Amino acid sequence: MHNFIAKVLNLKQIVTILGIESSCDDTSVAVIQNNTLLSSVIANQDVHKNYGGVVPELASRAHQSNIVPVMHEALLQAQVQLNDIDAIAYTRGPGLLGSLLVGSSFAKGLSIGLQKPLIEVNHLQGHILSHFLSEKDEQKEFPSFPHLSLLVSGGHTQIILVHSPYEFEILGTTIDDAAGEAFDKAAKVMGLSYPGGPIIDKLAKVGNPNKFKFAKPYVEGLNFSFSGLKTSFLYFLKDQLKINPNFIQENINDLCASYQNTIADILIEKVLKAIEITQIKTITLGGGVSANSEIRNRFEGLKFKGIKTFIPKIKYTTDNAAMIAIVGYYKFLKNDFSTLEAAPIARFGIN
Ligand code: KG4
Ligand code: ZN
Repeated sequence: MHNFIAKVLNLKQIVTILGIESSCDDTSVAVIQNNTLLSSVIANQDVHKNYGGVVPELASRAHQSNIVPVMHEALLQAQVQLNDIDAIAYTRGPGLLGSLLVGSSFAKGLSIGLQKPLIEVNHLQGHILSHFLSEKDEQKEFPSFPHLSLLVSGGHTQIILVHSPYEFEILGTTIDDAAGEAFDKAAKVMGLSYPGGPIIDKLAKVGNPNKFKFAKPYVEGLNFSFSGLKTSFLYFLKDQLKINPNFIQENINDLCASYQNTIADILIEKVLKAIEITQIKTITLGGGVSANSEIRNRFEGLKFKGIKTFIPKIKYTTDNAAMIAIVGYYKFLKNDFSTLEAAPIARFGIN
């Protein structure tokens, strides 16, 4: 049934995709027409604030109660009826299994009810291809292929060679913690709440990035490591607290700025190495950590080295369904549809 519908629909000039994202703690539904965003609605979950991290069981329940109203709001904002949708794209993974199950079951239900094809999407590809979304009436240049992509999120830190919207090659990856984890764990040690990345970013704005020096790990090739940095930060604080119990409170801004500066150094060093090795001078930035102001500034600065950079709008840095819908659009063009049997995958590689 799906392939038949797809072949007919593929003759259309305008393709309308409904995107559904529920991999972690944000419930999101978006509507796009070709590359143009018509609406993107995100319901954040406050229930995790008191726990210092996302509680999977609570996330699943919140997705369950949010998903229907979020979809109705997305359709309303887009001025689109469910019957106008050509296909339903949903996140198959990676992510929390219970959360993914809510989004994928909902997508499958819609697919059966509406008799519309289903498209499974890799969340990581969503972050990477979010650069191919444009707003209504926006004149925008898209990255050319092949290009590099630095993907920095709570679970991933990777440099990817993007051959096309369909072909991704990992050139480097973290061998331990992700950049987002490095931010969140350091924030926890300093008594800041979850997620710590945005809080460190905010406090760092009025801090001295060169006040404290933290050891940068040596890692072969284009791979990353952040667990050593986190540990050296922890031991540094322990030593200082023995001398001055108020050390953290008295130095919080400088600590945040110096730690953030070290993470940015590590990321940019590897980006430059990847550009040198591949001789590809176009790079995109993506993932939750790409909201970080220092990392964005450093990317901005790469322009002066003749490198073309694509930095996402802040609204595309956090998890959202628009990025799922854009991958869905490219897959639609290739008749790449999914079956009802496809189960969510918690640990999903880039391909
Ligand atoms: O991509 P994302 O929303 O979820 C995952 O797929 O992991 O990324 C979440 C991560 C968290 O670790 C959060 O602390 C980090 O992104 N983050 C930031 C900033 N905003 C979000 N890290 C540093 N600076 C920020 N401004
Ligand atoms: Zn993400």
